Amino acid sequence: MAERARVAVLISGRGSNMAALVYAAKATDCPFEVVLVSGDRPEAPGLALAEAEGIVVARLASPASNQKRRFFEELDQALRRSSADFVILAGFMRIIPDDFVEAWSGRMLNIHPSLLPKYRGLVTHAAALAAEDTVAGCTVHLVTSELDGGPVLGQTEVAILPDDTPETLAERVRIAEHQLLPRVLADYVSRERSPEWIERRVDELACTLPEVTSRTAHGSPGWRVGGDKAGKFFAILSVRHHGEEAIALLVKSSGQDEMAALIEAEPDIYYRPAYYGASGWIALRLDRSQVDWDHVADWLQRSWRTAAPKRLTKLIDAADAF
Ligand code: GAR
Repeated sequence: MAERARVAVLISGRGSNMAALVYAAKATDCPFEVVLVSGDRPEAPGLALAEAEGIVVARLASPASNQKRRFFEELDQALRRSSADFVILAGFMRIIPDDFVEAWSGRMLNIHPSLLPKYRGLVTHAAALAAEDTVAGCTVHLVTSELDGGPVLGQTEVAILPDDTPETLAERVRIAEHQLLPRVLADYVSRERSPEWIERRVDELACTLPEVTSRTAHGSPGWRVGGDKAGKFFAILSVRHHGEEAIALLVKSSGQDEMAALIEAEPDIYYRPAYYGASGWIALRLDRSQVDWDHVADWLQRSWRTAAPKRLTKLIDAADAF
C-alpha cells in the first residue's frame, strides 16, 4: 500500500472522535495514521487514551488569556515535529488564529455538531431543539478563518426524537460523528493520491506554459510543446505503468549522471522509469505525502525548455532578463 497520510488530532476533552480516528486507522487498508494527539487542556481525558494506544502526545499547558500566541507557536512546532500532513480539530474548543489557519490551509478539518450552515458556534443541540427542527446532525468541513464556515466535506443527519434533550441528542450525534469523521478523512486524504486528481493538478501546471497541449503518449497522459506535427513531449504521467507501483511524473533530466545523483540523494522522490529512463527521463513520484507542487512546476518548466522550439525559449529568456 502507498505511504499513509500523517494526521494530528487536537482535542479539548473526552476525545471520542479522536478515538474513532485511532481505531479506524488500525485497519490495514486505512489511508491515514494518527501520529500526534494534542490540545489546549493537559488534563483532557482523551490524551490518556491516546497514550495508552501508543500515540505520541504533546501535553501543552493551557494558554492563559495573554499567552495564546505562544500556545499556538508551541502547537505549530509540535505539529511540524510530527511531520503531520493534516490536522483534525476533534472537539478542540479554541478559536484558531488566522496565521495558523493560513499555514494549514486545505489541510485542517473540523467536526461540528450541527448541519452547517445551521448553528455555528456553541450550544448547537439546544438551538436545534428550540427551533423545533426534526433533524439535527454533524458536519466535517475544512477550516477557514470564518468560524465554522469553511467548505463542507460531509454531513450526517440525525433524527430528533420528541423527548430529546440537548444531552440525549448530543449523544446520538456523537455516534454519527464517529462514523462520519473517519470516512470523510479517508476520502479527503485519498483524493490527492488518486490518478485523476494528480493528472488535473499536473495539467493545470503544464498548461500555464506557452503552447502546451495534452496528448496521450503510449496510453499515458502526456503534455507537448510546439505545433501539432513538430511538437515534442516534455512531461508524461506514469500511472503504475509497466508494473511499477508509483504514480510519477516523467520529465527530462540533463542525462544519466544527473539522474543517478538525484535518485541517490532522494530515493523517496526520484526513480529511473522503465524504458524512458534510458533516454534521460526521470520519474518524480506524486503519490506521496507532502508533494511540493512548486518543485513539480519547476521541473515542468525545465523539461518544457528542453523540448520547446527556439522561438519560444528565446521569448522566455528575454522575459527572464528583465
Ligand atoms: C463533538 O461533538 C464535536 O462535534 C464538538 O465537540 C464534541 C467533542 O466530543 N465540537 C464542537 O462543538 C466544535 N465547535 P469528543 O471530545 O468526544 O470527540
